[in-house]
Parts: sequence; C-alpha cells; structure tokens
Amino acid sequence: MSESGVAVSIFERIGGSATIDCLVERFYERMDTLAEARAIRVMHEADLGAIKDVLKRYLTEWTGGPKLYSVEKGHPRLRQRHFGFAIGDAERDAWLLCMRGALEETVADAAARQDLDKALSGLADWMRNRP
Ligand code: HEM
Repeated sequence: MSESGVAVSIFERIGGSATIDCLVERFYERMDTLAEARAIRVMHEADLGAIKDVLKRYLTEWTGGPKLYSVEKGHPRLRQRHFGFAIGDAERDAWLLCMRGALEETVADAAARQDLDKALSGLADWMRNRP
C-alpha cells in the first residue's frame, strides 16, 4: 500500500519498465549460457530477440504495468501456449534457476523480489504439462 492507501503494483515496486527490461535480458542471458538450462534453451529459437520482446510485454502487464501483451496477443492463455513444449519438474527448475539469478541481479528491493519470486514460482509450477 502507498501512503494514500492505494495498492502499489509489483511493476511500480520493482522500478517499472527499466527493471523489467534488465530482468528479461539477464534471464535469457542465463538461459543462453548455463549448462543447467541447455534442455530449455534448445526449445527456443536460435535468435532470442523476438521472445525477449514478448516476455517483456507479458511481464509488464502481469506485474500490473501497461497492458502491452494483450493488445497484441489477446488473452495470454499461457499454459496452452506452452503445450507444444515438454515441461516437467526438470524444465521448471531450469527456468526458475535462470529467473532467480536474474531477479537477484536486477531487483534491488528484497521484499518485492521475494513477492515476485513466489508468484513466478507458482506460474512455473502451473506451466508443467508432463508428469
Ligand atoms: C516452466 C518452464 C518454462 C519453459 C521450459 C518455457 C519455454 C517456453 C518456450 C520454448 C517458449 C516459445 C519461445 C519461442 O517462441 O521462441 C515460451 C514462450 C513463452 N513463455 Fe515460457 N516457458 C516456461 C515457463 C514460463 C513462465 C513461468 C512464464 C511466465 C512468467 C513464461 C512466459 C512465456 C511467454 C510470455 C511466452 C510467449 C508466448 C506467446 O507466444 O505469446 N514461460 N516459453
């Protein structure tokens, strides 16, 4: 809550677009270089430019910032959009390894970082589509 009693979005708490941009850059940098992430890196295009832009738009909207994703893509239907990729515990863990490192490097506010980590962990769990 802010002083006026209005709920403050995670987007604002972490520092808005500048932080989301860095977070996504660091996330894919880690996916691109960490051996533990190789299995999920190969699911992606060789050129990560397009997906970086999509994830920035998605996270902006999902954290309570401007609706940059749905204006272009409609309802996220994120789980359905991942059905084409085999995601089990190992893939979820690799994704979260990249994301946690990126969060530590880019989100200075520890409480906001923890909240975001928790919410993203839930989302990554939900994305699993293999036993
Ligand atoms: C849990 C493990 C996950 C794996 C292995 C995974 C993998 C992928 C892959 C391979 C793509 C397609 C990339 C491309 O088109 O080149 C994709 C798209 C996407 N992923 Fe994930 N993902 C995971 C979790 C998540 C989570 C937790 C989020 C949300 C924070 C997310 C957000 C997105 C978005 C926004 C797209 C683009 C969807 C679109 O086409 O609009 N992913 N993911």
